[in-house]
Amino acid sequence: MATKAKALYLLEPKGPYAVQEKDIPQPGPGEVLVQIHATALNPVDWKIHDYNFFIKDYPSILGTDSSGVVAKLGEGVTAFAVGDRVLHQGYFDNTHATFQQYAIVPAEIVAKLPDNLSFDQGSTIPLTLATAALGLYNTKANKGIELFPPWEEGGRNKYAGQPIFIYGGSSSVGQHTIQLAKLSGFSPIITTASKHNEAYLKSIGATHVIDRTLPAAEVQSAVKAITSEPIKVAYDTISLPDTQNLTYDILAPGGSLVLVLEQNIDKEKITKDKFVAQVFGNVHVPDQRKLGVSLYSKLTELLAAGDIKPNNVEVLPNGLAGIPDGLEKLKKGVSASKLVGRPQE
Ligand SMILES: NC(=O)c1ccc[n+]([C@@H]2O[C@H](COP(=O)([O-])OP(=O)(O)OC[C@H]3O[C@@H](n4cnc5c(N)ncnc54)[C@H](OP(=O)(O)O)[C@@H]3O)[C@@H](O)[C@H]2O)c1
Repeated sequence: MATKAKALYLLEPKGPYAVQEKDIPQPGPGEVLVQIHATALNPVDWKIHDYNFFIKDYPSILGTDSSGVVAKLGEGVTAFAVGDRVLHQGYFDNTHATFQQYAIVPAEIVAKLPDNLSFDQGSTIPLTLATAALGLYNTKANKGIELFPPWEEGGRNKYAGQPIFIYGGSSSVGQHTIQLAKLSGFSPIITTASKHNEAYLKSIGATHVIDRTLPAAEVQSAVKAITSEPIKVAYDTISLPDTQNLTYDILAPGGSLVLVLEQNIDKEKITKDKFVAQVFGNVHVPDQRKLGVSLYSKLTELLAAGDIKPNNVEVLPNGLAGIPDGLEKLKKGVSASKLVGRPQE
């Protein structure tokens, strides 16, 4: 096996990128080395570049979504074999990040990629599925709203007959939140999006799609016209100040809301009987790991059965070197799709 591989480095805070060679790292006990065939881009990647957070050491490799092939096993790893097709989430350091040709990952948060999915499709799943899952099912002490996961025994359809409101259903996080809500049995599953995404969101589980360009009061009226049941669970996958306020207004007393960005709800409307969590969507860190391990233990089955579907893929040209242009494109905005780079090209 080669000893050197390519990586895309962010050379300095807010600075330029360059593709450079590095040593291929060796997996330690309980870890695997993955040869990355596809890596998806996420808003956090361009935000790290533009605002300089998370990263302490430069030059730095970004990217936290991967699918590829197991290249080497660390001591004690028995669940995988060299050559297995897998998907996994990365982390923000040069060993675990995914804008490179090889990355290390703990085996307990790797899943085999079933044959019905391509590498490109597989790479769209880890970060945003983790964000949806950790927000809904992690404990309240660990940035979730503590529902019971549908992939664990007794969890499927546990919330049958209860409505859920998901702001931003066509976002990558939104698509996974809709799919998990469906597995949990929520009904109706009410979401907002541009009208052109309505049919697609219904195909993955939304029951009602409200035009996101309507004024807030009309979105609220539309929700009331769909269900007279109190909305006790809501997820704002966009979490801009206006979407947070709207979603908080729709949430009934006694309900719980997941945000993906820092809380920005008008102070005068905040009441003690509405619980708000700000999710951290990464299964590597200790307080998110336990639920992540549980999810990854069932992920292959969920993907093979089509219970969890990938986002729509747009492949970027020029391998690792094409990713910086992809990040600029993502910053300008995508609609119900995921930009994917291929590090081996
Ligand atoms: N806390 C965490 O750990 C965590 C994890 C993941 C993501 N995030 C954050 O969550 C947000 C969503 O990430 P993502 O990857 O899911 O995004 P994404 O896939 O890039 O989202 C694109 C979608 O957002 C919708 N949208 C864009 N601007 C909007 C606006 N002003 N109001 C309402 N909807 C809008 C669009 O819907 P239409 O095309 O239908 O109009 C589009 O389909 C980002 O801010 C990201 O940084 C946080």
